[in-house]
Amino acid sequence: MKLLYLLLGITLHSTLFANVEAGKKVFAANCAICHTTNGGRALGPDMNLVAYRRHKEEIAAYAKDPYEHYKAFGYSANAMPTLPLEDQEFKDVADYISSLQPFKQWMIKKKNKN
Ligand code: HEC
Repeated sequence: MKLLYLLLGITLHSTLFANVEAGKKVFAANCAICHTTNGGRALGPDMNLVAYRRHKEEIAAYAKDPYEHYKAFGYSANAMPTLPLEDQEFKDVADYISSLQPFKQWMIKKKNKN
């Protein structure tokens, strides 16, 4: 039984890890021309800040279809192109972006108002 958990743990860990690693490659090839990851300036917003503000599901959704989401994300215009990638690649790249920032805005505890 212990062995089973161990194997399960390893498989789970390697799939989680694989997503971030695969996503890093997707990012380098498709996103890095317009997005920095170190607080820099480029055409699109820096991904470390995006990772702080957004859930990874939101990042994947925006990456897949920016035109559908730009208003809801607070932009008045959409300059990011719709990229011809696979669903899995959008998920992987969102995992990678999310991994840039371990602390999230949504983790901040609200003050008790009583
Ligand atoms: C040609 C430049 C360009 C490329 C390539 C590009 N983006 Fe963008 N991205 C932008 C711009 C500009 C914005 C600002 C909103 C807009 O114009 O749609 C943006 C916005 C975003 C946002 C919303 C950020 C937020 O929370 O406000 C996400 C997420 C995002 N991009 C992810 C990606 C990912 C992932 C890739 C690669 C798969 C990528 N972008 C490739 C230019 C680009």
